[in-house]
Amino acid sequence: MSILKNIQKRKTFAIISHPDAGKTTLTEKLLLYSGAIQIAGAVKSNKIKKTAASDFLEIEKQRGISVATSVLSFEYKNAIINLLDTPGHKDFAEDTYRTLTAVDSVILVIDCVKGVEEQTEKLMQVCRMRNTPVIVFINKLDREGKDPIALLDELENKLSINLRPLSWPLGMGTTFKGVYNIYKNSFAFFHSNKQQVEDEIRVFNSIDDPELFNTFGDGAIKLKNDIDLVDGIYEDFDINKYKAGLQAPVFFGSALNNFGVKELLDTFIEIAPSPIPRESTNGTIHLEENGFSGFVFKIHANLDPKHRDRIAFLRICSGKFERNKFYHHVRLKRQIKFPNPASFMGQSKSVIDDAYAGDVIGLYDSGSFKIGDTLTDGDAFMFKGIPSFSSEIFRELRNTDPFKTKQLEKGISQLTDEGLAQLFTQNYGNRKVIGVVGPLQFDVIKFRLLHEFGANCEFINYPSYKACWVKYENKDDIASLMSLWSNNLFYDKNKNLVYIAESQYSLDRAKEKNPKVQFLFSIEHNDLTLEMEEVA
Ligand code: G4P
Repeated sequence: MSILKNIQKRKTFAIISHPDAGKTTLTEKLLLYSGAIQIAGAVKSNKIKKTAASDFLEIEKQRGISVATSVLSFEYKNAIINLLDTPGHKDFAEDTYRTLTAVDSVILVIDCVKGVEEQTEKLMQVCRMRNTPVIVFINKLDREGKDPIALLDELENKLSINLRPLSWPLGMGTTFKGVYNIYKNSFAFFHSNKQQVEDEIRVFNSIDDPELFNTFGDGAIKLKNDIDLVDGIYEDFDINKYKAGLQAPVFFGSALNNFGVKELLDTFIEIAPSPIPRESTNGTIHLEENGFSGFVFKIHANLDPKHRDRIAFLRICSGKFERNKFYHHVRLKRQIKFPNPASFMGQSKSVIDDAYAGDVIGLYDSGSFKIGDTLTDGDAFMFKGIPSFSSEIFRELRNTDPFKTKQLEKGISQLTDEGLAQLFTQNYGNRKVIGVVGPLQFDVIKFRLLHEFGANCEFINYPSYKACWVKYENKDDIASLMSLWSNNLFYDKNKNLVYIAESQYSLDRAKEKNPKVQFLFSIEHNDLTLEMEEVA
């Protein structure tokens, strides 16, 4: 089979949701349908129910480097599906955001009782920045939830996406009868059952078929009215709009009861995009002509002292990867080969001989990778579209053991390369502020600095609102910022200027007084001059 044909078989995606909406349950059910696992209960939630760092560290130690749920690869109907896992805990949201740079589409799970939640909004913002195609799965229809029309209104308003329901529920909670597939005119009957994997489906001639009335009585009238309304409100489904991230098809179901999941998976296989060419600092990288290339989007370190290795997760963007072949590490300008590249199939990890664009492989790493690093057949380019997002919690790093200064420097440098936190420095590096998305990260950093690098530190509160990257045309534009706000100015690891605002008010003032400067909430890893999201 040609390289291109192999690539076109790949569908690489992530399931995203606010914690508890049903991401783990849906993942498991998708694996059950595909035959990748045989019994329910095989997929462990990566949620950390308690927020104590010790729990997290224990879990991480147990998971070790063999964390099999990072990527789940399975075959279904001749497609190779790569499902990338995203951390459930919001303190590790940055990891999730980065994972979204490695997928070609997402399934967004919404709890029909709760509707749009905090994490849903943040995750969708990231998807919109990248025009990622989205399929929406409204879950837990076996519960009394929000009225479907009102719920879809809420989704459209809060998430700024255009929706198109492909199915529609009849009843909800105790009166839930099932869902009608609007395009196939078929009805899937709901049975509360955690084991059954096939839906009971009956095909009708149209929504006006009298058989519907014979089956559901007045329910059929409500269903018809609802669907007429839906057809009136929402534009027809258009696969090109979906692929451009402009329209999101919607399904209803109950993952716990295996309901609506097969329909979701079958539609996913039909419409979800396979890998497409990606933009780089050298222009568009085509799937086949450019040979092999890929980038690192996640680095997973082993906390088990007996196995101190790290795995760099590489998303292949073009061509074919081969074991033991030399590839060009663009940032280090070095040739590297990988004797033990790993793939993840179901629950187990295995060494692979080759992999294609769309696949995610794990590369054993002894410290040569940073987030955003690119490997190629020889060309020197970096992939675009791998953003860093503004941290939200800041603490100043203090060395508590002056004899271990070098160890601390090395440790902080490595952990921030992994993307665990962001490092901002001032006064030629003498003052260090660490920024994270969630406070749990500080405990993880402290633990790892001590156990892996033998360095001791403490974190001093540094109450701030956001870190914004400062973009300007020429030096004069930042003259007043440099003199009046010098206390708030730092450099990130790549020597980009960063303004750490104490509050929204102080940010507004800085913006007002420095009209030629842009303050950005996110930045590209590989090129400061690329499109960046300006602070609202
Ligand atoms: P997450 O990964 O998005 O955080 O969610 P997860 O799948 O762990 O599901 C969160 C809770 O919601 C679980 O219950 C799960 O059983 C339940 N759930 C998922 N899908 C459905 C559904 O379709 N209907 C109903 N009624 N519940 C659903 P839990 O009590 O927190 O955990 P567990 O003890 O059942 O594992």
